Amino acid sequence: MLAPDQSSFHATKTIGMAKHSYRCKISSSLTDAILFVGGVMVALLLFCALWSSIMPVPNPTPTFSSAVTRPKPSVSEVFASDDCAQVVVSMRVNRSHDPSSPTFYDDPNLSYYVDKDKPIKNWDKKRREWLKHHPYFSPGIQERILLVSGSQPSPCQNPIGDHLLLRFFKNKVDYCRIHGYDIFYNNVLLHPEMKTFWAKIPVLRAAMIAHPEAEWIWWMDSDAAFTDMDFKLPLERYREHNMVVHGWEKLIYEKKSWVSLNAGVFLIRNCQWSMDFMDVWASMGPQTPDYDKWGKTQKSVLKDKVYAESDDQSGLVYLLLEQKEKWADKIYVESQYYFEGYWLEIVERLENISDRYVGIETSAGELRRRHAEKVNGYYAQLREPYLKEAGFGWGSWRRPFVTHFTGCQPFGFVHGDMLDSSSVSPLPFDYPSSA
Ligand SMILES: *[C@@H]1O[C@H](CO)[C@@H](O)[C@H](O)[C@H]1NC(C)=O
Ligand SMILES: *[C@@H]1O[C@H](CO)[C@@H](O)[C@H](O)[C@H]1NC(C)=O
Ligand SMILES: *[C@@H]1O[C@H](CO)[C@@H](O)[C@H](O)[C@H]1NC(C)=O
Repeated sequence: MLAPDQSSFHATKTIGMAKHSYRCKISSSLTDAILFVGGVMVALLLFCALWSSIMPVPNPTPTFSSAVTRPKPSVSEVFASDDCAQVVVSMRVNRSHDPSSPTFYDDPNLSYYVDKDKPIKNWDKKRREWLKHHPYFSPGIQERILLVSGSQPSPCQNPIGDHLLLRFFKNKVDYCRIHGYDIFYNNVLLHPEMKTFWAKIPVLRAAMIAHPEAEWIWWMDSDAAFTDMDFKLPLERYREHNMVVHGWEKLIYEKKSWVSLNAGVFLIRNCQWSMDFMDVWASMGPQTPDYDKWGKTQKSVLKDKVYAESDDQSGLVYLLLEQKEKWADKIYVESQYYFEGYWLEIVERLENISDRYVGIETSAGELRRRHAEKVNGYYAQLREPYLKEAGFGWGSWRRPFVTHFTGCQPFGFVHGDMLDSSSVSPLPFDYPSSA
């Protein structure tokens, strides 16, 4: 909610507006609006375990094991080397074209449904086949991202809740439009038993199947907001990885902490590895008969986990710890910038950060030039030299990329000004220098 209306030359103004919001008190609770929050303590407090069950020991297929033990090109490299990609560079996307040759869509057994008896196999090959029939989606595929978020199907009880969810959604839409990413907002339960923080897994699986043209699926909880609209994911850094999550390896492997990473924001590659991983991950979920047992197992391994309810975040840490050799080499634990930053650690510094950005723009005329939104990236690049000393992540004065509010808190931070769009007025020409 901190930069809900930001677009290109409004940036400074919007961040300035955000100042007002930090000063207000934490107030209302809005439990129904946070039903979809992933793996956070507050959420856990709110959702008691409704499910019982037992869970099969995760047992990835032999195919997968061999895939991780020997080096092989990443999916993106395979696509990059695909002949089609070379041939059709200049071909325009044709959305009215779907050749009759069968693809995985014609397989009656294919389903997004999370069912351990119906795993998706050979996904890389199937996806590749589809791309061969739709070759104009191959160029640029490595950078193609579908952002996925969502919230509960029913209206919020608190009258302001749905409005706030809309503002959070708008923030994501703005970021995606500026960067040319697709976005999907889900508000149905794709698996009736996989509720709250588990609901995202069937959604991600469905998103992968529905979007073979997307290389990455980017999950973002509904209460996480972009607070740096210019920052671009360093995808090059993740070339060898299939999942990216914000966390700290030391806390994972030494402290075995369930908050050593945050499962509310992550990138996952559209590939077979991810299908396998999500099956194993989901096997700790409420739809399995071993759900209760998994809660206890997670609690015994993760020393600071308070409640013995299996949750997706603890499940992710658990898999990194207990099945490290199977998964860890493909999971990038990002701590070099705020891929996801906890609001408590961020909001107090935002005012200073905004002031520094205004300072930069006051002195650097080229940054004040008005421009079309489509060329925003050019000005983001121009600002970089001025941010050389800013650093990234904790202790930095760069705008935090993503700020994640958890539980009821976000709503306490929304000042009346933020909800009243009439408080937005045009910036003077050459702002902030002219201010
Ligand atoms: C797109 O494909 C359809 C056939 O599937 C074809 O009729 C149409 O001309 C194509 N459009 C472009 C712009 O190539
Ligand atoms: C679908 O699954 C059934 C049973 O699992 C199998 O017999 C059948 O061959 C599968 N069909 C296809 C098209 O793969
Ligand atoms: C803001 O910046 C000033 C001056 O640079 C510094 O003294 C102050 O401690 C900063 N406040 C916070 C909350 O970081």
